[in-house]
Amino acid sequence: MSRILITSALPYVNGVKHLGNLAGSMLPADVFARFCRACGHETLAICATDEHGTPAELAAAEAGEEVAAFCARWHERQRELGEAFGLSWDHFGRTSSPQNHAFTQHLADRLDANGYIEERTIRQVYSLEDERFLPDRYVVGTCPHCGYDRARGDQCENCTRVLDPTDLLEPRSAISGLTRLEVRESRHLYLLQSKLVDRLRQWIGSQTEWPHLVTSIALKWLDEGLQDRGITRDLKWGVPVAHDGKWEGLAGKVFYVWFDAPIGYIGATKEWADLDPKARDWERWWRLGKGADAVRYVQFMGKDNVPFHTVGFPATLLGSGEDWKLVDVIKGVNWLTYYGGKFSTSQRRGVFMDQALEVLPADYWRYYLTANAPEGSDSSFTWEHFAATVNKDLADVLGNFVNRLLKFSTARFGETVPAGGAPGPEEAALLPALAARMAAYKGHLEAIELRKAMGELRAIWVLGNEYLARAAPWVAIKTDPERAAIIIRTGINLARLMALLSWPVIPGTAERILAAVDPALADRAGGIVRWPSGSIEDEMSRLGPGAPIAVPGLLFRKLDPEEVAALEARFGGADAAPAPGK
Ligand code: MF3
Ligand code: ZN
Repeated sequence: MSRILITSALPYVNGVKHLGNLAGSMLPADVFARFCRACGHETLAICATDEHGTPAELAAAEAGEEVAAFCARWHERQRELGEAFGLSWDHFGRTSSPQNHAFTQHLADRLDANGYIEERTIRQVYSLEDERFLPDRYVVGTCPHCGYDRARGDQCENCTRVLDPTDLLEPRSAISGLTRLEVRESRHLYLLQSKLVDRLRQWIGSQTEWPHLVTSIALKWLDEGLQDRGITRDLKWGVPVAHDGKWEGLAGKVFYVWFDAPIGYIGATKEWADLDPKARDWERWWRLGKGADAVRYVQFMGKDNVPFHTVGFPATLLGSGEDWKLVDVIKGVNWLTYYGGKFSTSQRRGVFMDQALEVLPADYWRYYLTANAPEGSDSSFTWEHFAATVNKDLADVLGNFVNRLLKFSTARFGETVPAGGAPGPEEAALLPALAARMAAYKGHLEAIELRKAMGELRAIWVLGNEYLARAAPWVAIKTDPERAAIIIRTGINLARLMALLSWPVIPGTAERILAAVDPALADRAGGIVRWPSGSIEDEMSRLGPGAPIAVPGLLFRKLDPEEVAALEARFGGADAAPAPGK
């Protein structure tokens, strides 16, 4: 048993997240967290809304709302939707919390004390009418590289080049559209990352568990020469730079969102601990001297976030000179695309978390998105593929096995597990096959190879279906009721085992199966369904003759071609993807 800290990249607060966001960090983190808990590890799963920066300020302004109220509202909504998807984080916090403010200012102080922060005067765009500096996305204009006329001050969406607001041609304010802009000087804090390159290289070099994708992205950043990074902005909403008499000259400025957001992992852990300070200790998870050296820390994120987690955040923690726990395993994934194009929040292309739940319950999505996790490469969502997966894996294999088995059993033997019969060659062949699949499945979950894991889980469901088809209790019952009884008893124990194994991915369905075949276990206190740890013989005979059973309602329904066509019409199909070259 060990202690496992799990964080998933913090979703931006503005608006409902799409399935690409869910599949890239929050869902895989949840599957892994459930698996860890099932195995008996002390697990802490932390997430939060990422609330600062220009995206939140601009979206609030667009909604005509105070930014604080806007963030509070969307934080709540995201929490609600996460819970509706079965995301079982221990705490879903906010980067705007007082705890995160305190950690952010503290870490900046430490970096400064260690000589890693420098005040610099830089040239910035100032809007005469708005009477404010316009950082990042507050300026739009023409991209100097490709001529795209709606490029944002931080990046051109068209050619993806990273920009500085002063690079834009014909700049205008994103708030007012006004063009009376000038370049003025402004004081900002810079984090001297260049001084930390050796420490970072040494730390990255000592990581044994990072996948190749992650290590190569991290080293690329170091090899290209790590730039000193501006960590403050001319915004109102954020963590104030001036505090406790320090940096008074920068009053009115805040830390840059990418500085305070990852610190939010620590801030949200403290929020969690503060809810019950007697029982919870945040330092056990984050300070090496306080027990965190025994923690295994796993982060989940999309590949665009990898540099900030392999270089940016570690630079903050290492530079502080304090004994912070650093990440052990980074699970970075590629993109889930919508018909080969980008899911896009700004253009509302794709399927969003609230819409998904209007179409089907969470488990359909949880399974589909895990089985098609964009691990090795990007993977593409299409309604046809989604429907085919649901119909085959969930409805025809798992659902059919459980429903057919339990209907037959209750019709012939009543509402208890039947007695009689002894295992024969079919059962003798089933058990080792099952044990081998289970071991492979567990191995893939431990390695956080979720696609491979789902392949094994599906294979376990298939084993059950094939066993039932071969053993054919509906035939045996005519001539040999004892034989039918042992088949059914085997099947019921297998259904129970399937529920235990499936719980990390499809917890709602697992509970329904357990309620039907193992009501005592289904009534347990505490949410965790424990991983089967006995021998395969023991696990396959937990439910003996006379144990109560019931038939669950239909576990999974199918999607027919008309419905698929209607969903494509509603959400946009292939035609919703951007034209090539765009
Ligand atoms: N909000 C960022 C995104 O959605 C992720 C922030 S991760 C954090 O890409 F660690 F910095 F919080
Ligand atoms: Zn461009």
